[in-house]
Amino acid sequence: AQTSRGPSSRVTGLSPRVSRRKIVKCEAKKVALLGAGGGIGQPLSLLLKMNKLVTELSLYDIAGVTGVGADISHCNTPVKVSAFNGPEELEGALKGAELIIIPAGVPRKPGMTRDDLFNVNAGIVKALVEAASKHCPEAIIQLVTNPVNSTVPIAAEVMKKAGTHNPAKIMGVSTLDVVRANTFVAEAKKLDVKDVDVPVVGGHAGATILPLLSQATPPVSFTDAEKKMMTEKIQNAGTVVVEAKAGKGSATLSMAYAAARMAESTLMGLNGEPNIYECSYVQSDVVPDCPFFASKLLLGPGGVAKVLPLGNMDAFEQACFHAMLPELKASTQKGIDFANA
Ligand code: NAI
Repeated sequence: AQTSRGPSSRVTGLSPRVSRRKIVKCEAKKVALLGAGGGIGQPLSLLLKMNKLVTELSLYDIAGVTGVGADISHCNTPVKVSAFNGPEELEGALKGAELIIIPAGVPRKPGMTRDDLFNVNAGIVKALVEAASKHCPEAIIQLVTNPVNSTVPIAAEVMKKAGTHNPAKIMGVSTLDVVRANTFVAEAKKLDVKDVDVPVVGGHAGATILPLLSQATPPVSFTDAEKKMMTEKIQNAGTVVVEAKAGKGSATLSMAYAAARMAESTLMGLNGEPNIYECSYVQSDVVPDCPFFASKLLLGPGGVAKVLPLGNMDAFEQACFHAMLPELKASTQKGIDFANA
């Protein structure tokens, strides 16, 4: 079975075993973070500054990034940090980047859906991806900005228009759904969280978030009622954070953690490490008539090396799968229409 690598097997992070991990090959890797001054951007900057696979870190924002750059740069790790402020400095941030992570844009407030962010965030993503397509067309782009179900199709359309489209290099960051699923399942089943891996497929909004509990590692069993409760808990976890923050934004710390994990896996793939798997929302033909779908991926030197088939779903998962497809397809189309308007 292909098991995603949990925190304990990682280069940075959290376990003492990690720092002694042998790295297959470590080439210079420049990462650009667009939206680095924000709630996600700041802790993600710190986690990237601590990552041994990153050599250079470009922090870009339209506000507040100079201070974040000065602050982070004092951490005594080898990563070279530069801050870039405003559109006229965007080119400098992007030049030579191999991985671009985009959490630029507004977050939810209580009562909002991710789709409510579309009007503001779609334009931000479009402009940033246009610049990336111009200044570093070979880079991998990872979109954190919501609604991910629509911002990834926007990015793909922008790159198609520019003649730089490579579906293996555009990913929607849905890692937080996996991180949450692993945490909640470990808690419910009293397992060591570092051993738990739950694939989460579909999309990254409400009902489109489909945890495949039947494919969890190690295998876990739930009654039908528990399965429904656990699925809804994973789907609603973002909203729980939005409500708990009561108007002060959405998940930032757990999101930064999740994006750092996705970035690290991606850099490991770029470095030629074998068997690096993550779930991500990408273009694929895994589901007929659904051009974008979050699936389990094999990461490699060119980004997405392989999108894995969905595998067997139990009756509950199949029902959820069929029920959410119309919403997912509509969000995809909304992004495509916006990019082509
Ligand atoms: P925030 O408002 O704290 O930070 C956003 C940052 O983006 C700000 O520093 C802002 O100046 C910057 N920004 C705005 N327009 C920009 C532009 N044109 N170019 C560069 N930077 C720009 O928001 P937060 O909490 O960091 O969230 C960011 C995004 O991430 C939101 O869209 C949110 O919905 C999304 N998100 C995604 C999750 C996921 O699982 N994929 C989870 C949580 C949040």
